[in-house]
Amino acid sequence: MPIKANKNANTIRILTNNTEYQIKVDKFGILKHVWYGRPVWDDMDHLLDYPGIGFAGNIHESGDRREYSPDTLPQEYGCSGGADYRVPSISVVFEDGSRTVDLRYIGYTIEKGKYSIPGLPAVYASDDDAETLEIYLQDIASELVVRLRYGVLPQYDVITRSAVISNKGSEPIRLENAMSFCLDIPFGEWDRMTFVGRHAMERVPDRQPVDPGIHESSSARGASSHQQNPSVILCSKDCTETSGECYGAALVYSGSFKTQVERDQLGGTRLTMGINPDLFSWELGAGEDFYTPEAIITYSGEGFDRLSQNFHGVIRNNVCRGKYKLAPRPILINNWEATYFNFDEEKLAAIAKQASKLGVDLFVMDDGWFGKRSSDTSGLGDWTVNESKLKGGLKPLVDRVKSFGMKFGIWFEPEMISEDSDLFRAHPDWAIAVPGRAPVLSRSQLLLDLTRADVREYLYGAISDILNSADISYVKWDFNRSICDWYSHGIPKERMGEMPHRYMLGLYELLERLTHDFPDVLFEGCSGGGGRFDAGMLYYTPQIWCSDDTDAYERTKIQYGTSFIYPVSAVGSHVSAVPNHQTGRVTPLEARAVTAMAGSFGYELDLGKLSDAEKAAVKEQTARFRRYDDLIHNGSYHRLSDPTADKFAAWEYVSFDRTEALVHGMVFRTEPSAMRYRIRLRGLDPEKLYRFDTDGKIYSGTALMNGGILLPRTWGDYAPFELHFTEF
Ligand code: GLA
Repeated sequence: MPIKANKNANTIRILTNNTEYQIKVDKFGILKHVWYGRPVWDDMDHLLDYPGIGFAGNIHESGDRREYSPDTLPQEYGCSGGADYRVPSISVVFEDGSRTVDLRYIGYTIEKGKYSIPGLPAVYASDDDAETLEIYLQDIASELVVRLRYGVLPQYDVITRSAVISNKGSEPIRLENAMSFCLDIPFGEWDRMTFVGRHAMERVPDRQPVDPGIHESSSARGASSHQQNPSVILCSKDCTETSGECYGAALVYSGSFKTQVERDQLGGTRLTMGINPDLFSWELGAGEDFYTPEAIITYSGEGFDRLSQNFHGVIRNNVCRGKYKLAPRPILINNWEATYFNFDEEKLAAIAKQASKLGVDLFVMDDGWFGKRSSDTSGLGDWTVNESKLKGGLKPLVDRVKSFGMKFGIWFEPEMISEDSDLFRAHPDWAIAVPGRAPVLSRSQLLLDLTRADVREYLYGAISDILNSADISYVKWDFNRSICDWYSHGIPKERMGEMPHRYMLGLYELLERLTHDFPDVLFEGCSGGGGRFDAGMLYYTPQIWCSDDTDAYERTKIQYGTSFIYPVSAVGSHVSAVPNHQTGRVTPLEARAVTAMAGSFGYELDLGKLSDAEKAAVKEQTARFRRYDDLIHNGSYHRLSDPTADKFAAWEYVSFDRTEALVHGMVFRTEPSAMRYRIRLRGLDPEKLYRFDTDGKIYSGTALMNGGILLPRTWGDYAPFELHFTEF
């Protein structure tokens, strides 16, 4: 089994297929982090150093041993208020106002299977596929108990981390910071890669040296955000796609988060990640437990490609759930960029009918079908059909769409409320606002207070009424602003700091209930595109609209960054009209198609406006995607270029049995009198021979991976290509 405890050496080792993690309890009961990286098969505590430097705190029992300091030793969960001055994992205010926490080891358990977390999304696994280690720590001077949990999934080289913080005493305490994990790496020079951006330009990789000091990426928006994603990679300076060391962490949480990377005075690197403490405090009553969200961590000694395979595998198979987890997703047509708010039944039926002839499976009716919603200034919260647009309700339209042989899907933005809505007029206190202050508007809308059970009950009723009123197969769950003005009429004033996390617990409860009660509905997450693109949402919605930017060129960068952590099956991606509505750029239809195929494929335009030749191309694309969808969604995905730096984008899918490979991409600008670009494939079997569809020639896996192949000669800008190989 992967977790091994050596009682004599007080060492616990976690072994996955290609990694090893070591923890040691010392004679003072301090839990030290000893090793994380390639397997070492030996006790590594000879690497722990005791430099004995000035101004380091020494725990009292260490007596004269000035060299013994938690400030210089790698820790599993750094405490605040005591001898360790680096970024803490836990901060507490006790009943007497003191803030010193000093956690010491009291025991451990090892169990088959993977722990779950009440009320929060988490990696799940069968008893055969995972093991759980729990290490119990107790504060030396109080009855604060912390359980550090490690869920081990050896086949993906993944360890999940979370903590349970329990107040076993008789007085309440206040938690002010409760990180999901701490990882101390005492040696090495590292770069820190985060995924940053803004609305319509999310998750572009940003690689910076970890210089001395504290480097943070975070969200204080009540959602994981477009601006900084709750994921991070620490990589060696020489790390590339195929070589070098890297550690990755992704939080399974969709609310405000904070990731901190500290390079300390001795050149050690500490990584912590969890709920953003700036927006968090939690009263922990006597006998109560607090569960942190979990983080997925993984290590690769072979560069980013392997790291991404680990994340993709665990997120696709052990985070995403439901009927569509691994099944082919419907090819959809969405009317948003085709009509915006300006539609009626005839217009929508015409779009659906045209799409049905071209091989599209699902028609999605986007924003504007409900309440008084002819623009984005009104109607949110009133989830009843707007009969001036859809006479007779949903059923006539749904029946028509079904008569074309298609499924029907619908858009909701459940967490929002417009001031101009019947819901707001009836329940103004359901909107998040501070009494006596005009609330901040964004897209002219406010948020519903999901910490309240009555609000969640209303939403459950309103959404399930719609889903029961017609044959609906898909829901797009949108969220189009950031949260602020944190105040709830349902939370006592001294506990208002709990609201941001309670909002997430409320959201997750509602999503759990709806996805459980409507198991046949495919839920797609969305937040103005990818403003809440995280492993927490993927537990409920196996795909998420990746970005409101549908420009194929920009999308190559957005999808490139997204792919470091998230699998292709999670990425909602559509072909839209040209000139593109976000950038005005004109790209070839085939370039838009291969880019959109790197995801849950669909279209978002009025296909009726295309020429006959373009329609024929769309028909061929949908058929092609059907041929490839298992390879694309369930194969391995490899980045063959960096589109933020290179002159072309190229990515590759390889089937798990390595009998088939598909390369897609585009050359951004064709240059005259130039050499063709060379790519080297990855993930093939070096021993196998592959037939290249384009010229029928046979190449060995070794030749394609070590030597490579030339991209076709191109013409024009954003020139797409497709290279397909099958085992010979
Ligand atoms: C968000 C989504 C879009 C669309 C609009 C509708 O911006 O990301 O795809 O649904 O809302 O208002």
